[in-house]
Amino acid sequence: MLAADAKAMLVEGALEARENAYAPYSHFAVGACLLTEDGSYYRGCNIENSSYGATNCAERTAIFKAVSEGHRRICGIAIAGGPEGEDPNGYAYPCGICRQVMREFAGPDLPVLVAKSSSDVKEFTLGELLACSFTSENLV
Ligand code: THU
Repeated sequence: MLAADAKAMLVEGALEARENAYAPYSHFAVGACLLTEDGSYYRGCNIENSSYGATNCAERTAIFKAVSEGHRRICGIAIAGGPEGEDPNGYAYPCGICRQVMREFAGPDLPVLVAKSSSDVKEFTLGELLACSFTSENLV
């Protein structure tokens, strides 16, 4: 369970992280903010590339930042996305690759907050968004 103040921090962080999105091709700005098990917050934005497949999503930017700083467990993540330079006009759900990357560093009970604004937030568990997931346990 995430406390209400942690949820608010995650949503604010995701909305603010959108401001750094590098999205000159899609003009769709996404921000993400996650909370690690030991109480650290990491933010990320989407970073596009002229070779479109080299684009990195906001969620993976935040996750890779956290993991590269030594964190291995995520206990909450928020995402917000919409047209560049505008407030989100809908819910930007995490893509399939990002759901799988979240699963690497969190269990199916991970709270995933999808925010349209600070007061308009849908909450899911990762298990709802990625059922019957493939994990390291499949490899033993
Ligand atoms: N995008 C994300 O950052 N996260 C997602 O989960 C879905 C899509 C970005 C990638 C690309 O820069 C833009 O949104 C349009 O697809």
